[in-house]
Amino acid sequence: MKLSLGLFQLFSIFSLLCSNPIFAQCLDDQKSSLLSLFGSAPTPSWTPKTDCCLWKGVTCDSSNGYVTGLDLTNCSIRAPINSTSFISLSSLKSLNLSQNLFNSSIPASLGALSNLTHLNLSDSGFTGTIPIEISRIKMLESLDLSRTDPSSPFYLRFGNLDFEYLVGNLSGLRQLHLDGVDISSPVPRSMGDLANLTFLHLSGIDSSFVGRLLCLEVLDLQNNSFHGKIPSSLFTHPSLKHLQLSQNQFDAPLVEFGNASSSLSILDLSDNKLQGLIPSSVFQLMGLDTLWLSSNDFSDTMDFSLLQNLTNLRRLDLSNSGLSINTGGINFSLPQVNTLYLSSCNLKEFPDFLRNMYLDGYGPTHIFHQSEKVVFQACGQDATCVNGMVGRVHDACDFSKTESSWVSACTPPK
Ligand SMILES: *[C@@H]1O[C@H](CO)[C@@H](O)[C@H](O)[C@H]1NC(C)=O
Ligand SMILES: *[C@@H]1O[C@H](CO)[C@@H](O)[C@H](O)[C@H]1NC(C)=O
Ligand SMILES: *[C@@H]1O[C@H](CO)[C@@H](O)[C@H](O)[C@H]1NC(C)=O
Ligand SMILES: *[C@@H]1O[C@H](CO)[C@@H](O)[C@H](O)[C@H]1NC(C)=O
Ligand SMILES: *[C@@H]1O[C@H](CO)[C@@H](O)[C@H](O)[C@H]1NC(C)=O
Ligand SMILES: *[C@@H]1O[C@H](CO)[C@@H](O)[C@H](O)[C@H]1NC(C)=O
Ligand SMILES: *[C@@H]1O[C@H](CO)[C@@H](O)[C@H](O)[C@H]1NC(C)=O
Ligand SMILES: *[C@@H]1O[C@H](CO)[C@@H](O)[C@H](O)[C@H]1NC(C)=O
Ligand SMILES: *[C@@H]1O[C@H](CO)[C@@H](O)[C@H](O)[C@H]1NC(C)=O
Ligand SMILES: *[C@@H]1O[C@H](CO)[C@@H](O)[C@H](O)[C@H]1NC(C)=O
Ligand SMILES: *[C@@H]1O[C@H](CO)[C@@H](O)[C@H](O)[C@H]1NC(C)=O
Ligand SMILES: *[C@@H]1O[C@H](CO)[C@@H](O)[C@H](O)[C@H]1NC(C)=O
Repeated sequence: MKLSLGLFQLFSIFSLLCSNPIFAQCLDDQKSSLLSLFGSAPTPSWTPKTDCCLWKGVTCDSSNGYVTGLDLTNCSIRAPINSTSFISLSSLKSLNLSQNLFNSSIPASLGALSNLTHLNLSDSGFTGTIPIEISRIKMLESLDLSRTDPSSPFYLRFGNLDFEYLVGNLSGLRQLHLDGVDISSPVPRSMGDLANLTFLHLSGIDSSFVGRLLCLEVLDLQNNSFHGKIPSSLFTHPSLKHLQLSQNQFDAPLVEFGNASSSLSILDLSDNKLQGLIPSSVFQLMGLDTLWLSSNDFSDTMDFSLLQNLTNLRRLDLSNSGLSINTGGINFSLPQVNTLYLSSCNLKEFPDFLRNMYLDGYGPTHIFHQSEKVVFQACGQDATCVNGMVGRVHDACDFSKTESSWVSACTPPK
């Protein structure tokens, strides 16, 4: 009976063996390349006698056993890389060496990994000039060389023309993360030709090419030294969803723009020196979910009622923006808003609409002190509560302590 395994069953077992990646056998040369990749330094939890396709961080092509992915994020690797080993790992499609401490330059032999689509060397302790060979990896779709820890002594820089070559050669890039990288040269005009780019994170550049990046969804230029005017084209860009320009020195008034984007969902202009009024076009950005305008030098009075068409808005910060907010005569609620900062907005009366606000399906709000802050709180049927902040106590009390309704609003709920 045991002998009567049918042909069909045999076939099933055979195809199971072949299709299940667990059975992908590591090739000897792939294994020895992995083992010598970091010289004689101990390799993270890799046991030489076992199938290397099962090692932590290693992915193989199940049909042929070649190593296609290596993710060694935060593996405490300190040794420099053995370039020879890299060359025999040329089937790699994804390589992540982020959060290590290589303390050496990026090996030029990376350029031999011609099938690589994803390369992540962020915070890896690589230092010095980025090898031009990276611009030969034509298949690259995602490149992350960022340094997110500003205190790290390791930083990368491009040689004179290298950034231009990179942009000129890697036309398939979708994500480019170069924050903290020294791009000594001006941004090349060909930057606008990266037609598939959806994510761009750079520092210290001029953004005039952005209008030509028609697929761009995320533009993060936070914490740089940009000044002057924010190009209006960023607010009318057809695909941009997330525009992060906080912590710069933009200081010119925002101007009205036509054809406001409907895709923009997060707009963060906080911590700048923006002046004047907020143009009404900003309140036509119908897709806005988050609007951060705090810590600026705006002037004049803004009618809160300008917000009434922003029906998707959930998070709003106007604190310390220089604006005086007029909440008088408001006849609408912001049922979807769950985070609201209005500190130092020179409010003259307690915003009535807050009292009846429902947050994310929670009940109506209470308003009370909490240490230095005035907080509003809404609780659901099951007694879970959400909090938001209206202002600092001294701001709030300036405008409202004489009003009996406010005094009661300041009393914490029992
Ligand atoms: C580098 O790797 C090659 C083969 O992958 C090996 O022969 C050589 O000994 C390694 N060099 C060092 C310094 O480990
Ligand atoms: C990196 O790994 C160490 C332990 O090896 C851990 O303490 C640390 O939190 C990890 N860092 C990150 C950013 O995951
Ligand atoms: C690169 O990918 C192509 C197509 O998938 C494949 O034919 C080729 O063998 C790969 N090259 C290496 C070195 O693995
Ligand atoms: C490592 O980088 C790759 C490519 O950028 C990415 O897909 C992967 O999620 C990263 N790994 C970790 C642990 O973040
Ligand atoms: C690179 O790896 C880090 C983990 O160290 C991850 O947080 C980051 O998202 C990765 N970058 C990309 C572009 O996938
Ligand atoms: C990096 O390597 C140099 C010698 O090449 C050494 O002096 C330095 O202390 C190392 N830095 C770190 C953070 O390990
Ligand atoms: C591509 O990179 C090479 C150097 O690797 C450079 O000589 C060439 O000019 C670059 N091409 C473009 C279009 O930038
Ligand atoms: C952009 O993406 C499309 C669709 O994914 C692809 O067909 C095209 O080749 C890509 N363009 C470049 C320049 O890589
Ligand atoms: C902003 O950049 C400066 C210097 O470039 C750095 O010291 C600071 O930590 C950065 N701030 C944040 C929040 O990243
Ligand atoms: C708005 O878009 C239309 C059609 O694309 C165009 O004709 C018009 O000039 C644009 N208006 C402004 C103010 O940009
Ligand atoms: C709100 O939208 C309506 C209809 O599109 C428009 O007439 C009105 O001016 C808008 N109000 C504000 C404050 O933008
Ligand atoms: C407030 O708006 C509602 C309809 O949205 C209307 O019925 C009501 O009369 C308005 N109240 C005032 C005081 O304008």
